[in-house]
Amino acid sequence: MVLALVILYSIEAVSVAESSASGAVAAASGSAVQQGGSEASDAAVKQGESAASDEQSIAEEQAWVESMQSEDMSGDMSTLAEDSVIAADEVRASLQAQKAAGDAAALKAVKKAERAATYKVDPDKPMVALTFDDGPGKDTKRILKLLKKYKGRATFCVLGNRVEQYSGTIKQMNKQGCQVMGHSWDHKLLTKLSKAKIEKQLSRTADAIEDVTGEKPDMYRPPYGGLNKNVKAVSKELGQSILMWSLDTLDWKYRNANTINGKVMSGVRDGSIILCHDIHSTTADAMEKTIPALVKAGYQLVTVEELMDAKGIKPLPGKRYSQG
Ligand code: NI
Repeated sequence: MVLALVILYSIEAVSVAESSASGAVAAASGSAVQQGGSEASDAAVKQGESAASDEQSIAEEQAWVESMQSEDMSGDMSTLAEDSVIAADEVRASLQAQKAAGDAAALKAVKKAERAATYKVDPDKPMVALTFDDGPGKDTKRILKLLKKYKGRATFCVLGNRVEQYSGTIKQMNKQGCQVMGHSWDHKLLTKLSKAKIEKQLSRTADAIEDVTGEKPDMYRPPYGGLNKNVKAVSKELGQSILMWSLDTLDWKYRNANTINGKVMSGVRDGSIILCHDIHSTTADAMEKTIPALVKAGYQLVTVEELMDAKGIKPLPGKRYSQG
């Protein structure tokens, strides 16, 4: 009898070992899961058969399953509730930021479409982008009048600290289809600044321009063309492309209308981005020659945005562009 019990015990032990081995395989293999499942249900059926009443067993099983389910669900729900309480403010802020960014992008697309409908650019004809830095100044209006007279547009890279004082001039730029972008707040060499200070120079200027034109610029020109890794990284973070130039008039140095005009007319080609400064009266004097001369030579006077579009260039944040 004792021997028989020992033998029975041994058989049961082997069976348990097999069953757990099968469980381990089941976890590792899909087909084994099915096998494991059918073994489990066989066991349940056997257990059910040996129970006093099948109905009672089924009812107990059902109650147990239901209690487990409701426990699981209440567990999930309480976790969700805790998470949502913790994250509610972050989610709300993120949604608001997304909406604001979406609104700004949508507004920009509408304004860009309006400009494209108003100012026709022929992509098959030569074009140049005149750009004016460091202003606005008292001579900027003269340049705007010339542009209007010759049905041209230009790009003004303004200093943030001049925007409020010259808001009327900036509105006029916008009205004439000219492009307005920043040139830092107060002409600091950005490569000498911390990332936080670079960020402030750029975003404060972009915000000031947006306050006047209703449109946030997505490109800027760094003072002295100064760029390094930090400046590029901040530009990228702020969604700002970087504008350079391909033709430097050195107008700040020559201060002579004929010399400046000669520099432009001898160096210009299709796609040129021409660097000038509208704070010098000699530059405005030069434009009285240069603007009609460029038009006569067959150049369309376009903004940087129009130039990029016509040449199929899509400016990316943190990247620099010097010609079309
Ligand atoms: Ni400058």
